[in-house]
Amino acid sequence: MGILHKTHLLSIVSILLLQILSSFPCTLSQGSWPPYITSDIKEISGKSFDYIIVGGGTAGCPLAASLSEKFSVLLVERGGSPYENPLVTDRKYYGFSLLNTDEYSSVAQSFISREGVANHRGRVLGGSSAINGGFYSRASPDFVKRVGWDVELVEDAYRWVESRVVFQPQVTPWQFVAEFGFLEAGIFPYNGYTLEHLEGTKIGGSVFDNYGTRHTSADLLEAGHPENLTVLVNSTVRNLLFCNQSDTNETWAYGISFIKSDGSLEESYEAYLNRANDSTSFGEVILAAGSLGSPQILLLSGIGPPEHLKKFNISLLSGLREVGQGMQDNPCVALFADAKPLNRLPEPPVVAGIAHDLKFIIEAGILPISPNATRMPAAIKYAFPASRGSLELNSTDPRQNPAVTFNYLSQEEDMKACIEMAQLLQTVVRSPAVSVFLGVEHQEDELSGVEELASFCKQNVRTFYHYHGGCGVGSVVDEDYRVYGVKGLRVVDGSTFLESPGTNPMATLMMLGRYQGIKILRERGHFDTLNTQDHP
Ligand SMILES: Cc1cc2nc3c(=O)[nH]c(=O)nc-3n(C[C@H](O)[C@H](O)[C@H](O)COP(=O)(O)OP(=O)(O)OC[C@H]3O[C@@H](n4cnc5c(N)ncnc54)[C@H](O)[C@@H]3O)c2cc1C
Ligand SMILES: *[C@@H]1O[C@H](CO)[C@@H](O)[C@H](O)[C@H]1NC(C)=O
Ligand SMILES: *[C@@H]1O[C@H](CO)[C@@H](O)[C@H](O)[C@H]1NC(C)=O
Ligand SMILES: *[C@@H]1O[C@H](CO)[C@@H](O)[C@H](O)[C@H]1NC(C)=O
Ligand SMILES: *[C@@H]1O[C@H](CO)[C@@H](O)[C@H](O)[C@H]1NC(C)=O
Ligand SMILES: *[C@@H]1O[C@H](CO)[C@@H](O)[C@H](O)[C@H]1NC(C)=O
Ligand SMILES: *[C@@H]1O[C@H](CO)[C@@H](O)[C@H](O)[C@H]1NC(C)=O
Ligand SMILES: *[C@@H]1O[C@H](CO)[C@@H](O)[C@H](O)[C@H]1NC(C)=O
Ligand SMILES: *[C@@H]1O[C@H](CO)[C@@H](O)[C@H](O)[C@H]1NC(C)=O
Repeated sequence: MGILHKTHLLSIVSILLLQILSSFPCTLSQGSWPPYITSDIKEISGKSFDYIIVGGGTAGCPLAASLSEKFSVLLVERGGSPYENPLVTDRKYYGFSLLNTDEYSSVAQSFISREGVANHRGRVLGGSSAINGGFYSRASPDFVKRVGWDVELVEDAYRWVESRVVFQPQVTPWQFVAEFGFLEAGIFPYNGYTLEHLEGTKIGGSVFDNYGTRHTSADLLEAGHPENLTVLVNSTVRNLLFCNQSDTNETWAYGISFIKSDGSLEESYEAYLNRANDSTSFGEVILAAGSLGSPQILLLSGIGPPEHLKKFNISLLSGLREVGQGMQDNPCVALFADAKPLNRLPEPPVVAGIAHDLKFIIEAGILPISPNATRMPAAIKYAFPASRGSLELNSTDPRQNPAVTFNYLSQEEDMKACIEMAQLLQTVVRSPAVSVFLGVEHQEDELSGVEELASFCKQNVRTFYHYHGGCGVGSVVDEDYRVYGVKGLRVVDGSTFLESPGTNPMATLMMLGRYQGIKILRERGHFDTLNTQDHP
C-alpha cells in the first residue's frame, strides 16, 4: 500500500505524452466549432454587448447561455475550445491533462499553494468541468436552505443542466468493488443511483456519456441563442473598465480590457457594455473566472485591500478588504489500493461513500501517473473544514497564478476530522472486497494511534480539488452576487461559496450559472423564460 505524496506523483511526462497525442487518429477542424465561438480578438475589439461574462467555465457557460435568451452576450475565455481536444473529451485519457501542464496553454493550469500542495484549475472553454472527474451530485436541501436560494428555481436549474450534460454511468468492475469496500467499511445505507446528496454509498451522475465522451459546461452554450451569443476564446481578461457617473457619484463597470492569451501584455483590446440612456437598463460585467481567477481580476482592477494593491502600483478603485479572503480547500488524504503501477485504463470515480453525518466523502478511481502507468488511489475529503486562507497577487500579468494559502489542518477540529478520515480510508482499502479483487496483501503495519495518524495527515494532506472562496457572499458580493461598492458588476462561480456544497461542487456551479441567469432575466422583467427549462 503506497502513499500518495503531496509533492505529487503526477510528474513530468510531457515528451512521452506528446508522442501519444500526436498519434491520435483524427482531430476535428476548426470549422466544426459551434458558430458562436471565435478566437478573432480583433473582430471583437471595440464592440459592445448587453452582458460581458469573464471566464467560460463551469458556471460561466450556463450563465451566458441563459442571458443570451434575451440579451446580447460576450463570453471571454482565456483557454481554447474543448471540442477538438481528446485530452478533454475522451474518457480513456481521463487524468492525462493534469500530467501535462505548461505555463500558458495547457488545458489544465497547475498551481501550488504556499504550503506546498499541488493543485490544478481548468484553462479551456468548459473550465474545470473539462479536466475534472465529472462526478455529478446535487447539493443537499440543507445547503440550499443555508445559502437562501429559491428552492423551486434551484430544482428547475438542476433539471435544465441534467437534461443536457448528465448521464447515468456504467459501473465498471473496479467501481463495483469500491462500492462493496465502502459498504464493508460500514458506509450505509446503499442508495443505488441517485443525484441527491445522501448519507451512505451511492452511484452518482457523470458528465461522461456511455460512449466515453465528456460533456463539459461548454455544451450548455448550445441552449443559448446563437445570434446573441459570442464566445471569444484564447483571450485573457486583464482588468475591468470603470467610469464615474457624475450625478450620483457611483462607479460603474463599462467594459473589459483583454489580451491574446499567447500575446504581449502591451497589446491590449477593449470591449464595452451597451449604454442605454436610462441607467436601470444598463448591462453588466459578470466574473465567472473561478476561485483563483475572479478575486485576481478584482485585484488587478483596483478592488481589494489598499496596501496590497499599492505593492503592485495598482490604483485603488474600491478598498474592499475581503477580496481574496476566506479561501478554503477541503483537506483530503489518499492511499493507493493497488500494490504497484500497472497499465490500466484510467477511470473517473462514479461511486461515493458519504459518511459520518455527511462529513466525509470517499471515492476511488484509476489515474495515470505516466503515459503507460496508472495507480488506483482512494481519496477521502472532509466536507466542513474550519481552516481558511487567502489569495494575493504574485504578478500583474493576469496569466500568472495568484499566490494562494489554504492553511490546511491549521484548526484543531480539522486535524481531528483528518485522523478519523484516515482511519476510515484504511478500512476501505483493506476491506475484503478490495483486497481480494486486487490481490493485495497488506503486510505492512496499519497506521494507528492518534499521533501516527496525525503525522500521516500532516505529511500527506492534499487537495480533493474543491477549493472555493475569495469573493464570498456577504463580504465581497451581496445576496444577488453584486460586488459591493461598485455598480454593474457581479461574480457568479465557486469564489462566492463560503463552503463547498457538501458534495462535489460541479453540479451546483452549473446550476448556479443557470439560476443566476434566470434571476437576472426576471429582475429585468422577462418572466417568460421560466417555463422553458427542458429540452424542446
Ligand atoms: C482535477 C479536478 C477534479 C475535480 N473533480 C470533480 C468532480 O468529479 N466532481 C465535481 O463536482 N467537482 C470536481 N472538481 C471541482 C469542480 O470541477 C470545480 O469546483 C468547478 O468546476 C469550478 O467551477 P468555476 O465555475 O468556479 O470555475 P472554472 O470551471 O474553473 O471556470 C473558470 C474559467 O475562467 C477562466 N478564466 C480564469 N481567469 C480568466 C481571465 N483572466 N480571463 C479569461 N478567462 C479566465 C478559466 O480558464 C476557466 O475556464 C474537480 C476539480 C478539479 C480541478
Ligand atoms: C438579442 O438581443 C437584443 C438586445 O440586445 C434583443 O433586442 C433581441 O431580441 C435579441 N435577439 C434574439 C434573437 O433573442
Ligand atoms: C488557442 O490556444 C490553444 C492553446 O495554446 C491552441 O492550441 C489553439 O490553436 C488556439 N486556437 C486558436 C484558434 O488560436
Ligand atoms: C471617480 O471620481 C473620483 C473622485 O471624484 C476619482 O478620484 C476617481 O479617479 C474617479 N474614477 C474613475 C474610474 O474615473
Ligand atoms: C459627489 O462627490 C462630491 C465630492 O466628494 C460631493 O461634493 C458631491 O456632493 C457628491 N454628489 C452626490 C450627488 O452625492
Ligand atoms: C439614447 O438617447 C439618444 C438621444 O435621445 C437616442 O438617439 C438613442 O437612441 C438612445 N439610446 C438608447 C439605447 O436608448
Ligand atoms: C511601483 O512604482 C515604483 C515607483 O514608480 C517602482 O519603484 C516600483 O518598482 C513599482 N513596483 C512594482 C511592483 O511595479
Ligand atoms: C512504462 O514504460 C517504461 C519505459 O518504456 C517501462 O520501464 C515501464 O516498465 C512501463 N511501465 C508499465 C507500468 O508498463
Ligand atoms: C511568485 O512568483 C515567483 C517569480 O515569478 C515564483 O518564483 C513564486 O513561486 C511565485 N509564488 C507563488 C506563491 O506562486
